[in-house]
Amino acid sequence: MVVVAVAGGSGNVGRTMVETLLELREHEIIVLSRKQSPGVANVESVVVDYGDVGAIAEALTQHDGWGSLPNKRSPVYAFREASNAELRKTTLEWTRVSNGFFPDYYGSPRVKTHLPTITFAVDIASREAALPGTRNESIAFTYSFDLARFVSASLSLPKWEETTYCYGDKTTWNEFIKVAEDITGSRLRVTYDPVEKLQKGEFTELPPHAKEAAASPFPEALARSLLSILGLWTAEGYFNISVEGSLYQKFPNKKLMTVRDILLQGHGPK
Ligand SMILES: NC(=O)c1ccc[n+]([C@@H]2O[C@H](COP(=O)([O-])OP(=O)(O)OC[C@H]3O[C@@H](n4cnc5c(N)ncnc54)[C@H](OP(=O)(O)O)[C@@H]3O)[C@@H](O)[C@H]2O)c1
Repeated sequence: MVVVAVAGGSGNVGRTMVETLLELREHEIIVLSRKQSPGVANVESVVVDYGDVGAIAEALTQHDGWGSLPNKRSPVYAFREASNAELRKTTLEWTRVSNGFFPDYYGSPRVKTHLPTITFAVDIASREAALPGTRNESIAFTYSFDLARFVSASLSLPKWEETTYCYGDKTTWNEFIKVAEDITGSRLRVTYDPVEKLQKGEFTELPPHAKEAAASPFPEALARSLLSILGLWTAEGYFNISVEGSLYQKFPNKKLMTVRDILLQGHGPK
């Protein structure tokens, strides 16, 4: 048994991690938070000041940490690179998890998830899709609770690489649309956003986008620009993550949610 400190464990992804670790009953869990009592599944929360490097180093010496992988277009890229550089100076064992895209959004609300809805590329409710790139690029999808199970399992690995790759399914947007049409029994109206359009920060709006951008915690313009960035990521292969050395290979017996499973559970017969 190890003590697992989940930084940001009160958030959407973090809470998924905490709940899954609790279910497995293999480790002691604490949540690192900037405030007291974030109220996550009755787990002890430890208040940390991320500005106090010494205190954080002390806390991390006793606990393991995890996070997610940005790329150069991510607004947080510079911060992550700086934190990588600092982590490399320590004797801590650490890793960043690269999990592709969460498919949870395409099964909500029937598929259990803590992630707030983001409509990206496909809106099954309106039967519309705006697909980025050539639509034939491989995209890794990992259901949020599968990600949490992978991360839990990785705690037993003898060594962590700087980047841990995991995914539950790999597919293309073209295949995704075929499965969606197969499961719902009707055609989707599909448009395409080539890379040149996405590079200009433009993309085809889907019906829920105006409402979602207005409700986003980010300024509306930034929330919209994130959709063209996501499109570029899929079109340029950032979500086509490594199979070699991935947790998918290291834990081949895990039952994982595929895109078909998500769509079937979310939109198939009740
Ligand atoms: N690959 C994908 O498809 C995908 C999808 C969604 C999210 N993500 C990534 O997953 C990560 C978590 O997303 P999320 O939706 O769970 O976010 P979230 O709900 O906002 O949770 C993040 C948590 O981090 C802590 N936090 C926020 N701002 C902070 C700051 N300035 N300094 C220190 N701690 C801070 C907060 O905890 P306290 O207030 O308790 O300190 C918060 O609960 C993000 O990196 C996001 O980009 C990836």
